[in-house]
Amino acid sequence: MPDRPSLVIVGAGGLGREVAALVEALHPPPPSGALAGFVDDDPSRHGDTVMGYSVLGDVHWLAQQADLRFVIAVGNGTARRHIAETLRPSAPRATSLVHPSVSLHRTAEVAPGAIVCRGVASTVQFEVGPHALLNLNCTIGHDSVLGAFVTLHPGVHVSGAVHLADGVTLGTGAVVLPGVQIGAHTTVGAGAVVTDDLPPHCTAVGTPARPQS
Ligand SMILES: CC(C)(COP(=O)(O)OP(=O)(O)OC[C@H]1O[C@@H](n2cnc3c(N)ncnc32)[C@H](O)[C@@H]1OP(=O)(O)O)[C@@H](O)C(=O)NCCC(=O)NCCS
Repeated sequence: MPDRPSLVIVGAGGLGREVAALVEALHPPPPSGALAGFVDDDPSRHGDTVMGYSVLGDVHWLAQQADLRFVIAVGNGTARRHIAETLRPSAPRATSLVHPSVSLHRTAEVAPGAIVCRGVASTVQFEVGPHALLNLNCTIGHDSVLGAFVTLHPGVHVSGAVHLADGVTLGTGAVVLPGVQIGAHTTVGAGAVVTDDLPPHCTAVGTPARPQS
Protein backbone atom coordinates (compact mmCIF):
# COMPACT_ATOMS: atom_id res chain seq x y z
CA MET A 1 0.00 0.00 0.00
CA PRO A 2 1.42 3.45 -0.85
CA ASP A 3 2.21 5.95 1.93
CA ARG A 4 -0.72 8.12 0.99
CA PRO A 5 -3.58 7.61 -1.45
CA SER A 6 -2.47 8.65 -4.91
CA LEU A 7 -5.03 7.14 -7.30
CA VAL A 8 -8.10 9.01 -8.51
CA ILE A 9 -10.95 7.44 -10.48
CA VAL A 10 -12.47 9.78 -13.05
CA GLY A 11 -16.22 9.11 -13.04
CA ALA A 12 -18.25 8.32 -9.94
CA GLY A 13 -21.01 6.40 -11.75
CA GLY A 14 -21.61 2.68 -12.05
CA LEU A 15 -18.35 1.87 -13.82
CA GLY A 16 -16.48 4.12 -11.38
CA ARG A 17 -17.81 2.07 -8.47
CA GLU A 18 -16.84 -1.16 -10.24
CA VAL A 19 -13.34 0.19 -10.75
CA ALA A 20 -13.18 1.17 -7.06
CA ALA A 21 -13.94 -2.47 -6.26
CA LEU A 22 -11.10 -3.47 -8.61
CA VAL A 23 -8.74 -1.18 -6.69
CA GLU A 24 -9.92 -2.73 -3.42
CA ALA A 25 -9.14 -6.19 -4.84
CA LEU A 26 -5.63 -4.99 -5.67
CA HIS A 27 -5.11 -3.22 -2.35
CA PRO A 28 -7.15 -4.99 0.37
CA PRO A 29 -8.67 -4.67 2.84
CA PRO A 30 -11.33 -2.16 1.78
CA PRO A 31 -11.60 0.75 1.94
CA SER A 32 -8.40 0.82 -0.05
CA GLY A 33 -5.63 3.08 1.17
CA ALA A 34 -4.50 3.42 -2.43
CA LEU A 35 -7.61 5.31 -3.53
CA ALA A 36 -7.70 9.07 -2.94
CA GLY A 37 -11.25 9.33 -4.30
CA PHE A 38 -13.25 10.17 -7.40
CA VAL A 39 -13.60 13.16 -9.63
CA ASP A 40 -16.80 13.80 -11.54
CA ASP A 41 -17.97 16.55 -13.84
CA ASP A 42 -21.36 16.74 -12.09
CA PRO A 43 -20.85 19.56 -9.55
CA SER A 44 -23.79 18.31 -7.45
CA ARG A 45 -21.67 15.26 -6.56
CA HIS A 46 -18.66 17.20 -5.28
CA GLY A 47 -18.26 16.61 -1.56
CA ASP A 48 -20.34 13.42 -1.71
CA THR A 49 -18.99 10.11 -0.48
CA VAL A 50 -19.20 7.12 -2.85
CA MET A 51 -18.39 3.69 -1.41
CA GLY A 52 -16.56 5.49 1.37
CA TYR A 53 -14.41 7.63 -0.95
CA SER A 54 -14.79 11.37 -1.50
CA VAL A 55 -15.78 13.03 -4.75
CA LEU A 56 -12.95 15.53 -4.77
CA GLY A 57 -13.84 17.84 -7.62
CA ASP A 58 -13.88 17.80 -11.41
CA VAL A 59 -11.34 16.98 -14.13
CA HIS A 60 -10.02 20.55 -14.08
CA TRP A 61 -9.28 20.17 -10.36
CA LEU A 62 -7.48 16.90 -11.11
CA ALA A 63 -5.42 18.60 -13.82
CA GLN A 64 -3.78 20.70 -11.08
CA GLN A 65 -2.74 17.73 -8.90
CA ALA A 66 0.86 16.88 -9.77
CA ASP A 67 1.19 14.08 -7.23
CA LEU A 68 -1.84 12.01 -8.28
CA ARG A 69 -2.39 9.17 -10.76
CA PHE A 70 -5.70 8.59 -12.54
CA VAL A 71 -7.78 6.09 -14.41
CA ILE A 72 -10.87 7.02 -16.43
CA ALA A 73 -13.90 4.91 -15.48
CA VAL A 74 -16.31 6.12 -18.15
CA GLY A 75 -17.86 3.55 -20.46
CA ASN A 76 -18.00 5.65 -23.61
CA GLY A 77 -14.66 5.63 -25.45
CA THR A 78 -15.17 9.05 -27.03
CA ALA A 79 -15.86 10.57 -23.61
CA ARG A 80 -12.70 8.89 -22.28
CA ARG A 81 -10.71 10.43 -25.12
CA HIS A 82 -12.03 13.93 -24.34
CA ILE A 83 -11.14 13.54 -20.65
CA ALA A 84 -7.68 12.20 -21.50
CA GLU A 85 -7.08 15.14 -23.83
CA THR A 86 -8.03 17.54 -21.02
CA LEU A 87 -5.57 15.86 -18.67
CA ARG A 88 -2.75 15.05 -21.10
CA PRO A 89 -0.88 18.38 -20.91
CA SER A 90 -1.12 18.43 -17.14
CA ALA A 91 0.67 16.78 -14.30
CA PRO A 92 -1.29 13.68 -13.14
CA ARG A 93 -0.22 10.40 -14.73
CA ALA A 94 -2.53 7.83 -16.30
CA THR A 95 -2.15 4.41 -14.75
CA SER A 96 -3.37 1.00 -15.90
CA LEU A 97 -5.38 -1.33 -13.65
CA VAL A 98 -5.47 -5.10 -14.07
CA HIS A 99 -7.75 -7.14 -11.79
CA PRO A 100 -5.78 -9.65 -9.69
CA SER A 101 -7.81 -12.53 -11.18
CA VAL A 102 -6.25 -11.75 -14.56
CA SER A 103 -3.00 -13.45 -15.45
CA LEU A 104 -1.27 -11.53 -18.22
CA HIS A 105 1.53 -13.25 -20.10
CA ARG A 106 4.86 -11.40 -20.07
CA THR A 107 4.50 -10.75 -23.82
CA ALA A 108 1.25 -8.85 -23.38
CA GLU A 109 1.49 -5.06 -23.57
CA VAL A 110 -1.02 -2.97 -21.64
CA ALA A 111 -0.71 0.80 -22.07
CA PRO A 112 -1.19 3.39 -19.32
CA GLY A 113 -4.82 4.16 -18.58
CA ALA A 114 -6.14 0.76 -19.69
CA ILE A 115 -8.55 -1.10 -17.39
CA VAL A 116 -8.64 -4.90 -17.45
CA CYS A 117 -11.57 -6.20 -15.40
CA ARG A 118 -12.18 -9.40 -13.49
CA GLY A 119 -12.23 -12.62 -15.48
CA VAL A 120 -10.50 -11.40 -18.64
CA ALA A 121 -8.63 -14.30 -20.21
CA SER A 122 -5.90 -13.80 -22.76
CA THR A 123 -3.06 -15.57 -24.52
CA VAL A 124 0.20 -14.12 -25.81
CA GLN A 125 1.69 -11.18 -27.71
CA PHE A 126 -1.31 -8.88 -27.83
CA GLU A 127 -1.47 -5.13 -27.29
CA VAL A 128 -3.99 -3.07 -25.37
CA GLY A 129 -3.89 0.65 -26.10
CA PRO A 130 -4.10 3.67 -23.80
CA HIS A 131 -7.40 4.04 -21.91
CA ALA A 132 -8.87 0.89 -23.43
CA LEU A 133 -11.55 -0.78 -21.30
CA LEU A 134 -11.77 -4.59 -21.20
CA ASN A 135 -14.88 -5.34 -19.18
CA LEU A 136 -15.79 -8.54 -17.31
CA ASN A 137 -14.98 -11.96 -18.79
CA CYS A 138 -13.65 -10.93 -22.19
CA THR A 139 -11.15 -13.10 -24.05
CA ILE A 140 -8.26 -11.81 -26.20
CA GLY A 141 -6.41 -14.01 -28.68
CA HIS A 142 -2.76 -14.03 -29.71
CA ASP A 143 -1.32 -11.19 -31.82
CA SER A 144 -4.39 -9.00 -31.49
CA VAL A 145 -4.01 -5.24 -31.32
CA LEU A 146 -6.57 -3.14 -29.47
CA GLY A 147 -6.12 0.58 -30.11
CA ALA A 148 -6.50 3.57 -27.84
CA PHE A 149 -9.92 4.07 -26.22
CA VAL A 150 -11.22 0.70 -27.41
CA THR A 151 -14.18 -0.52 -25.35
CA LEU A 152 -15.02 -4.20 -24.89
CA HIS A 153 -18.30 -4.62 -23.03
CA PRO A 154 -18.71 -7.78 -20.92
CA GLY A 155 -18.24 -11.18 -22.48
CA VAL A 156 -16.65 -10.12 -25.77
CA HIS A 157 -14.48 -12.67 -27.57
CA VAL A 158 -11.65 -11.29 -29.70
CA SER A 159 -9.93 -14.05 -31.68
CA GLY A 160 -6.29 -14.14 -32.72
CA ALA A 161 -4.66 -11.54 -34.99
CA VAL A 162 -7.63 -9.17 -34.78
CA HIS A 163 -7.01 -5.44 -35.21
CA LEU A 164 -9.35 -3.01 -33.47
CA ALA A 165 -8.51 0.57 -34.44
CA ASP A 166 -8.74 3.48 -32.00
CA GLY A 167 -12.16 4.07 -30.46
CA VAL A 168 -13.79 0.78 -31.52
CA THR A 169 -16.62 -0.42 -29.25
CA LEU A 170 -17.78 -4.04 -29.10
CA GLY A 171 -21.16 -4.62 -27.43
CA THR A 172 -21.82 -7.27 -24.82
CA GLY A 173 -21.17 -10.79 -26.07
CA ALA A 174 -19.84 -9.79 -29.50
CA VAL A 175 -17.46 -12.20 -31.22
CA VAL A 176 -14.72 -11.20 -33.68
CA LEU A 177 -13.31 -13.97 -35.87
CA PRO A 178 -9.56 -14.41 -36.47
CA GLY A 179 -7.70 -11.83 -38.50
CA VAL A 180 -10.59 -9.38 -38.78
CA GLN A 181 -9.83 -5.65 -38.87
CA ILE A 182 -12.35 -3.10 -37.56
CA GLY A 183 -11.95 0.56 -38.49
CA ALA A 184 -11.64 3.46 -36.07
CA HIS A 185 -14.66 4.47 -33.97
CA THR A 186 -16.89 1.70 -35.29
CA THR A 187 -19.44 0.21 -32.91
CA VAL A 188 -20.46 -3.45 -33.03
CA GLY A 189 -23.81 -4.31 -31.48
CA ALA A 190 -24.34 -6.69 -28.60
CA GLY A 191 -24.31 -10.32 -29.66
CA ALA A 192 -22.92 -9.71 -33.14
CA VAL A 193 -20.47 -12.04 -34.86
CA VAL A 194 -17.94 -10.12 -36.95
CA THR A 195 -16.79 -12.39 -39.76
CA ASP A 196 -15.26 -9.79 -42.12
CA ASP A 197 -13.48 -6.45 -41.87
CA LEU A 198 -15.62 -3.43 -41.00
CA PRO A 199 -14.99 0.17 -42.14
CA PRO A 200 -14.42 3.06 -39.72
CA HIS A 201 -17.22 5.16 -38.21
CA CYS A 202 -20.10 2.74 -38.65
CA THR A 203 -22.44 0.69 -36.47
CA ALA A 204 -22.70 -2.99 -37.34
CA VAL A 205 -25.10 -5.56 -35.89
CA GLY A 206 -26.12 -9.16 -36.41
CA THR A 207 -24.57 -12.41 -37.56
CA PRO A 208 -22.66 -11.90 -39.72
CA ALA A 209 -22.24 -8.28 -38.61
CA ARG A 210 -23.29 -5.80 -41.27
CA PRO A 211 -23.13 -1.99 -41.11
CA GLN A 212 -26.53 -0.41 -40.53
CA SER A 213 -27.65 1.91 -43.31
C1 LIG B 1 -25.95 -1.59 -31.87
C2 LIG B 1 -26.32 -0.45 -30.94
C3 LIG B 1 -25.07 0.40 -30.66
C4 LIG B 1 -27.36 0.39 -31.69
O1 LIG B 1 -27.83 1.39 -30.86
P1 LIG B 1 -28.76 2.54 -31.51
O2 LIG B 1 -28.01 3.26 -32.59
O3 LIG B 1 -29.31 3.33 -30.39
O4 LIG B 1 -29.86 1.70 -32.29
P2 LIG B 1 -31.39 1.43 -31.95
O5 LIG B 1 -31.57 0.92 -30.57
O6 LIG B 1 -32.16 2.65 -32.37
O7 LIG B 1 -31.73 0.24 -32.95
C5 LIG B 1 -31.66 0.41 -34.37
C6 LIG B 1 -32.06 -0.90 -35.01
O8 LIG B 1 -31.02 -1.87 -34.77
C7 LIG B 1 -31.55 -3.00 -34.05
N1 LIG B 1 -30.53 -3.40 -33.08
C8 LIG B 1 -30.06 -2.65 -32.06
N2 LIG B 1 -29.08 -3.32 -31.41
C9 LIG B 1 -28.98 -4.52 -32.03
C10 LIG B 1 -28.17 -5.63 -31.80
N3 LIG B 1 -27.25 -5.63 -30.82
N4 LIG B 1 -28.28 -6.69 -32.63
C11 LIG B 1 -29.21 -6.68 -33.63
N5 LIG B 1 -30.01 -5.64 -33.90
C12 LIG B 1 -29.90 -4.57 -33.09
C13 LIG B 1 -32.82 -2.48 -33.40
O9 LIG B 1 -33.72 -3.53 -33.15
C14 LIG B 1 -33.32 -1.52 -34.43
O10 LIG B 1 -33.92 -2.24 -35.47
P3 LIG B 1 -35.19 -1.65 -36.29
O11 LIG B 1 -34.69 -0.41 -36.97
O12 LIG B 1 -35.53 -2.76 -37.25
O13 LIG B 1 -36.23 -1.37 -35.27
C15 LIG B 1 -26.87 -0.94 -29.59
O14 LIG B 1 -28.18 -1.48 -29.73
C16 LIG B 1 -25.99 -1.99 -28.94
O15 LIG B 1 -26.05 -3.20 -29.20
N6 LIG B 1 -25.11 -1.49 -28.03
C17 LIG B 1 -24.27 -2.30 -27.19
C18 LIG B 1 -24.49 -1.86 -25.76
C19 LIG B 1 -23.78 -2.72 -24.73
O16 LIG B 1 -23.32 -3.82 -25.01
N7 LIG B 1 -23.71 -2.19 -23.54
C20 LIG B 1 -23.06 -2.87 -22.44
C21 LIG B 1 -23.03 -1.99 -21.25
S1 LIG B 1 -22.20 -2.79 -19.91
